[in-house]
Amino acid sequence: MTTWAFIGSGNIGSAVARLAVDAGHDVVMSNSRGPETLTELVGRLGPRARAATATDAARAGDVVVVTIPFKAYRDVPADELAGKVVIDTMNYYPQRDGQVAELDDESTTTSELLQAHLPESKVVKGFNNIFVGHLAALGRPAGDPDRSALAIAGDDAAAKQTVTSLLDAIGYDTVDLGPLAQGWRTQRDTAAYGVMYAADPQDWSKGPQPADAQTVAAAAASSKRYRDMADTPETPDAS
Ligand SMILES: NC(=O)c1ccc[n+]([C@@H]2O[C@H](COP(=O)([O-])OP(=O)(O)OC[C@H]3O[C@@H](n4cnc5c(N)ncnc54)[C@H](OP(=O)(O)O)[C@@H]3O)[C@@H](O)[C@H]2O)c1
Repeated sequence: MTTWAFIGSGNIGSAVARLAVDAGHDVVMSNSRGPETLTELVGRLGPRARAATATDAARAGDVVVVTIPFKAYRDVPADELAGKVVIDTMNYYPQRDGQVAELDDESTTTSELLQAHLPESKVVKGFNNIFVGHLAALGRPAGDPDRSALAIAGDDAAAKQTVTSLLDAIGYDTVDLGPLAQGWRTQRDTAAYGVMYAADPQDWSKGPQPADAQTVAAAAASSKRYRDMADTPETPDAS
């Protein structure tokens, strides 16, 4: 039995929580406004779910999913997350998050910044490059021919193994991109950002399409740094 805690209970937090509850795990949900604002969500998730403050959720989780707008990452409680596996779903959208010089010059990546904020935690990047509707719909049991894979990146091998097992439990295979520094391969506007899970790559609202490990790995391998892109492709907004 695993307790997943969520710092952020919006689109992605609630979708991953649904998958975790359906797999028989417990979930602790939190947001910025307080647990009393999560009553309806917790009711929908059922008896395996409860609400807490972000700090209490951080304490409660065996694994903690940070799934908030990137601009708020410094609000994530560091002390309570010491020693824990933290899954980072965040993407950098300057129009929402403001300009961040070290991301604009690509000298680091979003998950490396979160790791620097949480030096005692083991950050694994995950769930960031799949549109929420596709994530909710594509989970399948192991061995199903339509099972999809999700990309992860991280600096701690044991933490990545933990996340791989958790993804397996909620219906996904895993593609390991390597260390956190490789996380740019699935960032916004790359070849591995969402499109391989979309029935229509131009309109993600038209439904999901399974993407196996080979497909996801090939997309990530073909990703380019922003500085090397001649034209930034137009991708739908999964901010
Ligand atoms: N939507 C997608 O398809 C998708 C896919 C992959 C990755 N992502 C990324 O994943 C992250 C979450 O996306 P989302 O679509 O789930 O966002 P969302 O629906 O806007 O939800 C954001 C959640 O974060 C909470 N939050 C905001 N500031 C907080 C803080 N300082 N402390 C604790 N909680 C805080 C919000 O709570 P309050 O409402 O109480 O402020 C809300 O529950 C973003 O970085 C996004 O780029 C999104």
